[in-house]
Amino acid sequence: MPESTDHLTHVEAIKPPAGFLERHPSTPFLADFEEYKKLYRQSIDDPETFFGNMAREHLSWSKPFDQARYPPGTGFQNGDAAAWFLGGELNASYNCVDRHAIANPDKPAIVYEADEPGEGRVISYGELLKEVCQIAQVLTALGVKKGDTVAVYLPMIPEALVTLLAIARIGAVHSVVFAGFSSGSLRDRINDANSKVVITTDESKRGGKAIETKKIVDEALKSCPQVHNVLVFKRTGNQHIPWTDSRDLWWHEEKQRYPPYVAPTPVQAEDTLFLLYTSGSTGKPKGIQHTTAGYLLGALLTTKYVFDVHPQDVLFTAGDVGWITGHSYVVYGPLLNGATTVVFEGTPAYPNYSRYWDVVDQHKVTQFYVAPTALRLLKRAGSSHVEKHDLSSLRALGSVGEPIAPEVWEWYNEHVGRGKAHICDTYWQTETGSHIITPLAGVTSTKPGSASFPFFGIDPVILDPTTGEELTSTVAEGVLAVRSPWPSMARSVWGDYNRFLDTYLRPYPGFYFTGDGAARDKDGFFWILGRVDDVVNVSGHRLSTAEIESALIEHPLVAESAVVGFPDELTGSAVAAFVSLKHKNLEDVAETKKELVITVRKEIGPFAAPKLILLVNDLPKTRSGKIMRRILRKILAHEEDQLGDISTLSDPTVVKHLIQVVHENF
Ligand code: WT7
Repeated sequence: MPESTDHLTHVEAIKPPAGFLERHPSTPFLADFEEYKKLYRQSIDDPETFFGNMAREHLSWSKPFDQARYPPGTGFQNGDAAAWFLGGELNASYNCVDRHAIANPDKPAIVYEADEPGEGRVISYGELLKEVCQIAQVLTALGVKKGDTVAVYLPMIPEALVTLLAIARIGAVHSVVFAGFSSGSLRDRINDANSKVVITTDESKRGGKAIETKKIVDEALKSCPQVHNVLVFKRTGNQHIPWTDSRDLWWHEEKQRYPPYVAPTPVQAEDTLFLLYTSGSTGKPKGIQHTTAGYLLGALLTTKYVFDVHPQDVLFTAGDVGWITGHSYVVYGPLLNGATTVVFEGTPAYPNYSRYWDVVDQHKVTQFYVAPTALRLLKRAGSSHVEKHDLSSLRALGSVGEPIAPEVWEWYNEHVGRGKAHICDTYWQTETGSHIITPLAGVTSTKPGSASFPFFGIDPVILDPTTGEELTSTVAEGVLAVRSPWPSMARSVWGDYNRFLDTYLRPYPGFYFTGDGAARDKDGFFWILGRVDDVVNVSGHRLSTAEIESALIEHPLVAESAVVGFPDELTGSAVAAFVSLKHKNLEDVAETKKELVITVRKEIGPFAAPKLILLVNDLPKTRSGKIMRRILRKILAHEEDQLGDISTLSDPTVVKHLIQVVHENF
């Protein structure tokens, strides 16, 4: 093993907590790790039979499928993704809602925890069905048809779930844009997907503050001529929101026009369920396209087996519906399993640092799932906020979005799980649809900081980054790829299948390329080492450095910029922007830096704001003009002595200047 990951060999595996079974209301789905291994082997050797059986058992079909996997066999054949469950027809909202509403109408589907404690409510499966049916009819009346995309710009409220399920009920495609994105980002996503209807709120509430959601939508719509209607849920009731009579409609007024039931529209297994935009190496976000049956099966099975979710469980995923975590583990996964999902509108710090634990205690949450960035914040705030709560209902504690540092893992285990809940560090991506490398609660031994072993159907490999050759020895380090398609993997980038192939299936032919580096230790545990491309992960939000650079260039003073990530104690990574300006003699440097930060906030969203702006005379470029970001990363890490070969720079003297600027500012 290379030096950098040498220490991993010494980490000992920890057995699943004994207290897990004590807390269990019935029996876990898998007896032990041996049973996992047996099922895993079947899923890899014969995915068609394995997933065919799973899909028949767990999903409700209006027409059974003819073939579980096409082409049959294994692997990426002809360099394409596989199709799953061809010939089958189903409806996502039926699977998430109707079947549970029929069996158990009064069972809580959603526990809504509003931003302000005490202002939430509980929504049963029966009530959810009614809401979904009514909004589905509103959308049909607005001309939305099967296959059309609908843009969703909503905070974490039950209506966000109603919206997604209503869109799916009529066979349309939802395209959620995270409500932290700026109007410019929203506009680009609405236009790329050619959405004609937008669903939003008057305002949003977060951490006690109101956010002018509708105003942001209106700003975006100035450049979206195809949008003919905006459906607005009244969240705060502020009278002073912008309104266009010919276009805007109130959710509550439209909803009450329709009867409480409408039949779901069956769709083909491979029909698109949703798009979700994510950042990549280039400036243009990609509309990652997920199918109906394969995605649903992935969300269902991972929720069930990874978190051991039984129908009587209450799952609290503290993620936003604007990201894939919200799609798979707030909406689809829990509802497909007929469990109760917590919809949390607030922040971990409002009204104080006990908020998550108040929710867990009050609703007897059985599975809690969050990003390490929130845990770092809470760990720093002090354990006293956790200790006074009864958290004995918790069986599984999930972590997602970035590697979890061993000391944060220990804190989570000791103070939240109290040694009795199983910590599951789940590795996956927007593109994978559901977890791909993860422990299974109650089953898999874990090592703090390792995502452990592959989920069913995932055949992970470590490749040599330059030759693309598979590193077959147990101990290995390289780039992480997957050898064979699985049901919930993305099928395309909206409108650009070629880009899908170029990004994921062509870099290492025969494999799906994750974009992450990974190591495998002597016990076969996988360790995710972070992105190998120009993607930065800030507080679990995935950002493209190229996208931030294109935002900066919008400022009239900016000549050129290079954006890189650097380690940050709280947010995992933070954004640093090296900027060269058109006019060198600036009067007010602080003011200029502030303006540049505002530019990024406005162009992308507040969460993308650089933490550090460094005004420089020039950037390190090769003779062909390519910016060498590696050098910037090293200088920021104060590793000037490890810059490597800088002789290929067109002007090697720029390095000295950059070191000086970094030392002066950071
Ligand atoms: C990227 C995907 C998956 C939902 C949230 C993020 C990083 C994700 C882990 C983990 C280390 C992780 C990877 C990945 N990542 N989970 N458990 N350990 N890194 O989804 O926005 O599509 O980002 O997040 O770098 O490629 P996303």
